[in-house]
Amino acid sequence: MTELRTAQWYGGDDRNGYIHRAWMRRGLPADAFTGRPHIAIANTASELTPCNTHLHEVAGSVREGILEAGGIPLDLPVMSLGETQVRPTAMLWRNLAAMATEEMLRANPIDGVVLLGGCDKTIPALLMAAASVDLPAVVVPGGPMLTGTFRGTALGCGTDVWRLSEEVRAGTLSQDDFLRSESAMIRSRGHCNTMGTASTMGLLAEALGTVIPGIAGIPAPDSRLLEAARGTGRLSVELVAQQRTPSQVLSRASFQNAVVALAAIGGSSNAVVHLLAIAGRLGIGLTLDDIDRMGAGVPCLVDLQPAGRFLMEDLHRAGGLLAVLRAVRDRLDPTALTVTGRPLVDYLDEAQVWDAEVIRPREAPLVADGGMAVLRGNLAPDGAIVKPAAASPHLLRHRGRAVVFDSIEDLHARIDDPGLDVDADSVLVLRGCGPKGYPGMPEVANMPLPRKLLGQGVRDMVRVCDGRMSGTAYGTVVLHVAPEAAAGGPLALVQDGDWIELDVPGRRLTLDVPDDELAARTPSERMASTVARAARGWERLYIDHVLQADTGADLDFLLGSSGSRVSRESH
Ligand code: FES
Repeated sequence: MTELRTAQWYGGDDRNGYIHRAWMRRGLPADAFTGRPHIAIANTASELTPCNTHLHEVAGSVREGILEAGGIPLDLPVMSLGETQVRPTAMLWRNLAAMATEEMLRANPIDGVVLLGGCDKTIPALLMAAASVDLPAVVVPGGPMLTGTFRGTALGCGTDVWRLSEEVRAGTLSQDDFLRSESAMIRSRGHCNTMGTASTMGLLAEALGTVIPGIAGIPAPDSRLLEAARGTGRLSVELVAQQRTPSQVLSRASFQNAVVALAAIGGSSNAVVHLLAIAGRLGIGLTLDDIDRMGAGVPCLVDLQPAGRFLMEDLHRAGGLLAVLRAVRDRLDPTALTVTGRPLVDYLDEAQVWDAEVIRPREAPLVADGGMAVLRGNLAPDGAIVKPAAASPHLLRHRGRAVVFDSIEDLHARIDDPGLDVDADSVLVLRGCGPKGYPGMPEVANMPLPRKLLGQGVRDMVRVCDGRMSGTAYGTVVLHVAPEAAAGGPLALVQDGDWIELDVPGRRLTLDVPDDELAARTPSERMASTVARAARGWERLYIDHVLQADTGADLDFLLGSSGSRVSRESH
């Protein structure tokens, strides 16, 4: 066996070895420093990240597994992000969380790491960090909450908030009844129970091979999660012995499988930026067009909100991710490995569907083509995406006149104005919401519909934005337009009344304005005045260095890997 990384700290009888051991002893036996792997438990638990609070208990089971396998478990609290709590948007901090975790994994004496995440940005940030350090790493997804009910009806966490609030705006639900549903929305520990970003990224972490197959999607309160955590703790010790690192597990084939899984589960559009960012840390040249191509024609089989009816507890009961993947096995790359050292496809033979309404058969999918569609055209030269599974079929080919909003504040101020020149065929455009412009690329693209149109029964319109959409949201929403308006993208030049043409089957997004007229336009002054100007701190660094959505919105200097080596120390 090769020498442990921690031997650089604990090996030798000189003063440095003495200091490293002495400060860590505190009850540990001497053999803790002579060949036993030290495993960090990178834990995103926080009371301000309510979806992850239970990860302290999960960490306890991981710890037991590490000890059983002969390792030394070490708590490593890492930056956490509560999606519903942090302002202005959790995405502003994903790269900071990834950078901080990366640096702490590298700086500390550890041989491997178990990554505990759940709420939306936490698993992506952990995987980005682990990829850049390239120490043996394995994920335990925190799991979804159980299904809450309100007046006899299941509540989809997130999705039903949008639905109920739209009902209030449409006058079909009272404000009092809306508020009564509040305490029913979150039934238990765990993350959102729809196929939102947290559910998606937990499942995709497994599809990528970074989770022991069969674990992702276990509900957070289910005791099988603790059993899985214990098994993961044991595996982490083996990972160190085998020196099985993220760069060995994660290949282009892994991303093929993740993209196929994304389509088959009808996953969140946010997964696109996260997969691109993780791939960017590994030097895998994954592109938006790859994502379109890899997922094209893969049926969405999972009937979960927001695209369908059921919730994550149902998916687990119905057979989970492996049962879904078995149904699309022909689209998977059989060479992709998992943290266990075995290919992902090895785990599919025993997977079964126990409820064919939740995981539909291939011949009766929820959506025939569940892939993300990548659009290009003079309105999105570097690409934009739309999730057809969450869109209205009759709007997938549409031509309408633009109604433009220069910021989310502008939208809120005018969207319900009875005098707003808008009809059901209009295309709502929201700009200034990209990575630089907001900053942080918030989930605002699923703009509320004008109240006067809701009153007429309109429930979906084509919307175009350089921001993101919550994974729990739905609608015909063109997202991640790149370049964003604040980075000089043509979205900044759209004017009220311009014709916009959306052609999802043809993968086109076109602003019907002659090139010479467009070239003569200048960006809206209203938009320029609302674009973020940060003088200092993380926001300054972020705005100066963030890349566009089409490459994952990572910081330019965080692409790639620095490895785990630290060459200097000072005492
Ligand atoms: Fe944490 Fe939805 S708010 S997963």
